[in-house]
Amino acid sequence: MLRLSLVAAALLSLGEGVLATLQTCGSAQYDPSQYVCWGNQFLCPVTAGEPLSYCAGACYSKFMYKCSNNVLTLLPAVTTPFQLVVSNPTLPIDGQPVTAGGQHWNLGGTTSSYCPTQVGSACPAGTSTSMVASGGSVSMNVMVPGGQQAYLDPYWNMGYTQAHSAYIPPGSITTGFGAYQGGGFVNLNGNGWGWVACPPQASGGGGTQWNLVAKNSTNAASLSSCTAINLKIIPVPSGTFGAWQYT
Ligand SMILES: *[C@@H]1O[C@H](CO)[C@@H](O)[C@H](O)[C@H]1NC(C)=O
Repeated sequence: MLRLSLVAAALLSLGEGVLATLQTCGSAQYDPSQYVCWGNQFLCPVTAGEPLSYCAGACYSKFMYKCSNNVLTLLPAVTTPFQLVVSNPTLPIDGQPVTAGGQHWNLGGTTSSYCPTQVGSACPAGTSTSMVASGGSVSMNVMVPGGQQAYLDPYWNMGYTQAHSAYIPPGSITTGFGAYQGGGFVNLNGNGWGWVACPPQASGGGGTQWNLVAKNSTNAASLSSCTAINLKIIPVPSGTFGAWQYT
């Protein structure tokens, strides 16, 4: 299986007229842009720009798992609010935050928020976007009564409710999210196809903003211009809010 995909990768490179510089891992040869070699013995793929780690026979993502005493375990759930940043070193938006705007999670760009003047000095800065997760659900880290629930909309983009409204578009999904301490924010719906970042003009995107889309078995083909990413969790202190409300 591994050997077959290595051959396929080599042929692909030849077809493009660019033969990748192969390295050796034990007796195997590999393309270091696609695989990482552990202990001169084990190959793990690079996915979403992350060279997967190795634990007793398994390759794993540090955005979701840890390896302790050769046993792979899920990272603990994050218990504080958090911000999210894009992780994929091959993209220009690597390290840029997920920002709330237009009831939508965008990649990069600026946070859109509002605070009524009556709230005065109690208004949070509202310049960064943070979330809270619990029990598989995620909501915006806001002060407004009723909160703002986040969800996968019918296009598998991430959206959130308007302040003072519980309206969620029919066909949206509000559960099945994992938020891991020291790791990432993961969509567990649709068998783990992961997140992609779509460049501004690509399908699934709109306007001038990079867009976040959750990939699945049916939309994967239409997202070929998008690139797999991880969303890294940056914890913020408990009891702090990102905004009064996001707009
Ligand atoms: C995948 O996402 C698309 C939207 O991009 C949605 O219409 C479809 O129902 C989803 N497929 C599955 C298997 O959930």
